[in-house]
Amino acid sequence: MALAQTLSPQRQPSLRADYTIEQDHGAYSSEEHGIWRTLFERQQKLLVGRACQEFLDGISALGVAADGIPDFRRLNDVLEKRTGWRIVAVPGLVPDAIFFEHLANRRFPSTCFIRRPDQLDYIEEPDVFHDVFGHVPLLVHPVFGDYMQAYGEGGVKALRLGGLHNLARLYWYTVEFGLIRTKDGLRIYGSGIVSSKGESVFALDDPAPNRLRFELLRIMRTNYRIDDFQETYFVIDSFDELFEATRPDFTPYYRELARRSSIEPGEVLPTDEALHQGTGRRKR
Ligand code: PHE
Ligand code: CO
Repeated sequence: MALAQTLSPQRQPSLRADYTIEQDHGAYSSEEHGIWRTLFERQQKLLVGRACQEFLDGISALGVAADGIPDFRRLNDVLEKRTGWRIVAVPGLVPDAIFFEHLANRRFPSTCFIRRPDQLDYIEEPDVFHDVFGHVPLLVHPVFGDYMQAYGEGGVKALRLGGLHNLARLYWYTVEFGLIRTKDGLRIYGSGIVSSKGESVFALDDPAPNRLRFELLRIMRTNYRIDDFQETYFVIDSFDELFEATRPDFTPYYRELARRSSIEPGEVLPTDEALHQGTGRRKR
């Protein structure tokens, strides 16, 4: 939330009250478009047979071509017709309440800046490649799109009920780092994985991390690391499963979770259904 503290609509006049800005697509340099191209081509090759079909279909539908940083207006034409979602430009992380409010109204806040050439493999904050390439393709999928909107509504509620840290873990282990089981094997749908060269391979192929069946309350008790590959991934069977599991009112869950201890990222419990029990921690 570092950016949210330094930037506020009062202090930065171009920032609107809802923290959105203009993308200014014409202002990108050819080097910046080149960085997008490099990242895009790399991931496109890597993700065949790794990303789930819904993600790959989303990429095709959006025509998020390899030619450069996409113009949000062009993406929005497609997105609005398909699922009613829209991308809004933001300068970086925005306050939680603002973020949830956007999602609840089918607006996905995306950064506009692109990482530097020395950050191709890793950047600690989201940039336009992570936000657009990673997140936007699945917003073309009706059920996933509904899930994201419901998550936004749930976020507003979690803020009120003191459940934010529990709900944030759900986002982390699904939207950002989720895996899905298909008839052809495990596939990636999490945006933090699909936008990372190293983790696209690690998440599916490396023996180190655990791959456990999705379990809502278990996930909402599980801590995560933001500065390394995940030690545990959670696997859903379908987006319908994800949406159905999160449909109930979380109010009693937050009360229950407040009394339970948290689980460490690499821990496997006797009650977990492990598709793969990891061999343990390995540094990036
Ligand atoms: N059903 C949740 C609630 O009542 C909202 C939610 C939906 C949260 C989808 C996350 C994902 O709080
Ligand atoms: Co993200």
